[in-house]
Amino acid sequence: MDCRGVVRFLICVCMVGFTGAKCVPEKCGSMNVSYPFWIKNSHCGYPGFQVTCRKDPYSGILAPFFTAYSGNYTDEYLQGFYYRIIEIDYTGSLIINSSSIWAQSCISNSTASAYFQPPLGGPFTISMSNKFIVIGCNAVGSYTYGDWGEARCVSTCDSQTDPPYCRYGCCEITLPDNWAWLNFTGGSLFSLLNTTTCGLSTILEPSTFTIVDNNTNLFWGDGLKAYHGLRLNWGISLQNCSMAKATANYSCASSNAECIDSPSGQGHVCRCLPGYEGNGYSNGTDCTDTDECKGSNMCVGAEEGGICHNFAGTYNCSCAEGYKGDGFHNGTRCISRSSNYLKLAIIGAVSSFVGVSMVACGLFWCLSMRRSKHAREKNFRQNGGIQLQERIASMGGKESLKIFSERELEMASNKFSTELGKGGFATVYKGVLVNVFDHLHSRENHLTWKTRRQIAIETAEAIAYVHLQAAQPIFHRDIKSSNILLDNTFTPKVADFGLSRLRPSDDRHLSIMFASGTPGYVDPEFVRSNQFTDKSDVFSFGVVLVELLTGLKPLLSIGESTCALYDHFLSAINDNHLIEIFDPKVVKEEIQGQMENMARLAKACL
Ligand SMILES: *[C@@H]1O[C@H](CO)[C@@H](O)[C@H](O)[C@H]1NC(C)=O
Ligand SMILES: *[C@@H]1O[C@H](CO)[C@@H](O)[C@H](O)[C@H]1NC(C)=O
Ligand SMILES: *[C@@H]1O[C@H](CO)[C@@H](O)[C@H](O)[C@H]1NC(C)=O
Ligand SMILES: *[C@@H]1O[C@H](CO)[C@@H](O)[C@H](O)[C@H]1NC(C)=O
Ligand SMILES: *[C@@H]1O[C@H](CO)[C@@H](O)[C@H](O)[C@H]1NC(C)=O
Ligand SMILES: *[C@@H]1O[C@H](CO)[C@@H](O)[C@H](O)[C@H]1NC(C)=O
Repeated sequence: MDCRGVVRFLICVCMVGFTGAKCVPEKCGSMNVSYPFWIKNSHCGYPGFQVTCRKDPYSGILAPFFTAYSGNYTDEYLQGFYYRIIEIDYTGSLIINSSSIWAQSCISNSTASAYFQPPLGGPFTISMSNKFIVIGCNAVGSYTYGDWGEARCVSTCDSQTDPPYCRYGCCEITLPDNWAWLNFTGGSLFSLLNTTTCGLSTILEPSTFTIVDNNTNLFWGDGLKAYHGLRLNWGISLQNCSMAKATANYSCASSNAECIDSPSGQGHVCRCLPGYEGNGYSNGTDCTDTDECKGSNMCVGAEEGGICHNFAGTYNCSCAEGYKGDGFHNGTRCISRSSNYLKLAIIGAVSSFVGVSMVACGLFWCLSMRRSKHAREKNFRQNGGIQLQERIASMGGKESLKIFSERELEMASNKFSTELGKGGFATVYKGVLVNVFDHLHSRENHLTWKTRRQIAIETAEAIAYVHLQAAQPIFHRDIKSSNILLDNTFTPKVADFGLSRLRPSDDRHLSIMFASGTPGYVDPEFVRSNQFTDKSDVFSFGVVLVELLTGLKPLLSIGESTCALYDHFLSAINDNHLIEIFDPKVVKEEIQGQMENMARLAKACL
């Protein structure tokens, strides 16, 4: 084969390949143009559906354009204009930019005329989904339909019946269906105030258009500037489906396509069966199965146990092993069969977590309590608490000295509510123990004989201890009933060692330079000699005994003068009037002997 032969062969192969090639959509900008529309490939389109791919003069982008005729009645010849195709619906319609189709007059009581006509003899008609509208105040518009008559529409700005897509003085009327052309007028009806008002009429597809405000710039001047579209219907051939099916070149012959009679009322169109994609034309994009399982679909996701099955033209949902339900989002979805066990497991896990947490908290609490108890015990040890306890124990066990527990201090100080002051080592709080004095001399409180005897005995022991048994003997020097404190069991505590002095071990006498103590309790011997001895404490104790016996205060007011209780007591005992001065609250025959014994003891002390 020579070179010429090779070239001829290649040309031949190319020709065969070209003519036998499957039709593919022609691209124009962002749009695909497919059968029956065509740009250059006439063999992949249908006669009368040629469109022009050109730059849109307004947006500068490539777009398919459709040629139709428009102008006004005065035109001698029809003028062809390009109208941009906004959208192609392969089931028999398309939308063109019809913003330039209008009739407008701004002269009072005058109208302008216009016409629109798709190529005569072609497949396109004006869809009835469009409306004829008139915009303006006191504006009028009309269209004629051949010899049959005229339709008229008047717009007044106060109209309550404005269509929702055009609120600013609009009126709309329907168009006759699938007309091949339209003659119409638009203008001003009249001007009451002799001002210029314009009236404009146009035809448009309402779904493409909205004027919701009174922005007059949208239409006054050179027409209705807001974009609006016009819907045109079309169909293939002059044959309806039943006729077309019988022909050899049946357009809807591809599998899974169906034929429908054209909305233009003439010819037919194709579409794909549900579940298939494509435009349905054999020389178009055919019909391919839609994979419903791709992307968002009606089945619940695999993470929820859903399974999507794609079938030709359809799909099905189901649930994976271990799940029940139909797998559809809007159905019973997929529910794990073990979800009850899972719930139980979750409940179990949560409750055991709570349980463990509670135990842990309990342990933590115990530990911290123990730690704080340890800390207290450590403080107690470090600050000599043990030695103190031992010493108290060695003192003979009687509670002449008492270590108060924190609880007792808390109660006595009313939870440390009253702070008296801060010292170098500690904060001093006010605490209250009831004094013997109050019990003896207040109306509400009175002590039984048994308690009084107990107080006498224990006070005596306490004094004896501080005088004789303490390592370093001490004189209290202010023994009195108000210094004998009672706790809630009436156990007395000898308090207020503020005046006490250590007793010099070598000398049984202590010289002091000033008289002290409390009037009524002070030993007259001490007052006279200024020598305080252990006998002075004993004297004071005697006065306390007399108080316990008589319930009287250590100083008595008799008329204007005061006299000491012990004087009164001594004279009563000397005059044998003892019984008369005993406290009437306690005196009873069976204890009279005990009281007399105590009286004798008091006398001895005094
Ligand atoms: C045009 O067709 C191509 C495939 O040829 C496709 O990827 C693209 O999405 C289509 N564009 C439109 C707007 O349909
Ligand atoms: C429609 O045409 C008008 C001019 O008549 C133009 O201003 C507008 O941008 C066009 N709109 C579209 C979407 O093509
Ligand atoms: C439009 O109407 C005018 C006036 O009635 C008429 O002369 C003209 O032929 C009509 N145009 C078309 C296309 O019907
Ligand atoms: C489809 O295209 C082929 C050529 O590729 C042509 O022979 C046939 O008539 C076309 N069919 C239709 C329905 O237009
Ligand atoms: C979808 O799945 C259910 C259950 O598996 C079955 O009963 C039904 O026939 C299926 N439907 C289709 C269209 O496959
Ligand atoms: C779920 O939605 C699809 C599509 O909307 C519908 O066909 C189907 O009947 C619905 N199923 C139920 C159970 O509602």
